[in-house]
Amino acid sequence: MKHQFPELKNDLLLRALKGEEVERPPVWMMRQAGRYLPQYMELRKKYTFFERVETPELACEITLQPIDEIGPDAAIIFSDILTVPQAFGIDVDLVKGKGPVMGNPIRTVDDAFSIFAEDIPGKLNHVMEAITLTRKELNGRVPLIGFAGAPWTLFCYMVEGEGSKNFAKAKRFLFEHPDATRHVMNELTKATIDYLQAQIDAGAQVVQVFDSWAGLLSPEDFNVWAMPYLMEICDAIEEVPVILFAKGSWYALERLGYKSSASALGLDWTITPEYAREATGNNITLQGNFDPTKLFLPIDELKRQVSRMIDRFGTQKYIANLGHGILPNIPVDHARAFVDTVKEYQATD
Ligand code: CP3
Repeated sequence: MKHQFPELKNDLLLRALKGEEVERPPVWMMRQAGRYLPQYMELRKKYTFFERVETPELACEITLQPIDEIGPDAAIIFSDILTVPQAFGIDVDLVKGKGPVMGNPIRTVDDAFSIFAEDIPGKLNHVMEAITLTRKELNGRVPLIGFAGAPWTLFCYMVEGEGSKNFAKAKRFLFEHPDATRHVMNELTKATIDYLQAQIDAGAQVVQVFDSWAGLLSPEDFNVWAMPYLMEICDAIEEVPVILFAKGSWYALERLGYKSSASALGLDWTITPEYAREATGNNITLQGNFDPTKLFLPIDELKRQVSRMIDRFGTQKYIANLGHGILPNIPVDHARAFVDTVKEYQATD
């Protein structure tokens, strides 16, 4: 089913992703819909996290909040990467002060081999409805980004059963049971491709793949347990640009830049712009990488540092963003200052 949507007025993000010339870099922020916004906190009092995610009208409203409030050049659909584990039958609860907790994580080889990707988009139809509704409500102001978690990051949560600093249970399972792990990764890869494709059919104009825990793997293990699945996902998505955010995997930038069919690579703040450009040979658009904690800086200094970041990346083949999600207690005027600095940027030479 194809939809008719209003014409896109701000196509900076799409042009930067295609490597086309732009008057200034586009800007958006990971987790831009969230707890730093008073409007979000109001809805949070009334509905649980998954009520907000599963009700298309609420997901749409939350997606639009930062667009109205701080004016970035893209919207990202309000949802979560843990919708996919849910569609695989894993119970996910968001526990206050703790983060996500799974009721029935993968604990045995049998658990792992009983995971199958069956009609994942059908089980997540509310996400597709939210995307279609949001595309209409955006009225062409900015493009809409869909997203999914990468197989490795989803595996981390599905085996560990909760958030963790080192995901030691998940890594132990991987090293002890490589065949069972490979089965789960293959099913997650299929699910992710189908899910992203369904989001695109519903109206997503760009998709981002979050491999938030890529940095827990050594370079050698990343090559075996993350890279091939990321490549497969990027290759399968042909209709819209893919942004690949493999946090902490600086060592893989060169290969991801040259060998993956992603349109852009997301960078965390531990990578210098110079290193990232050199590693990728200016061959691919880069996105990032302001340290999210630096949004607490006094506004003057914040603006100075954001300008400096753009000086270093350059204005072309670049998408200004944070190096990870915005923190809950960032003052709204600081988030707006980040966006405004990019919009007002003038190269100093
Ligand atoms: O970027 C956006 O604005 C879109 C929304 C979005 C959310 N989660 C909303 C959310 C996106 C893109 C995600 C992705 C996500 N979810 C990732 C990958 C990106 C990353 O940050 O590394 C991961 C690892 C998750 C899993 C997840 N969901 C965790 C660890 C948590 C709890 C931690 C936290 O920030 O509270 C969530 C909950 C969650 N997802 C919230 C939001 C706004 C907070 C819910 C609330 O308390 O209101």
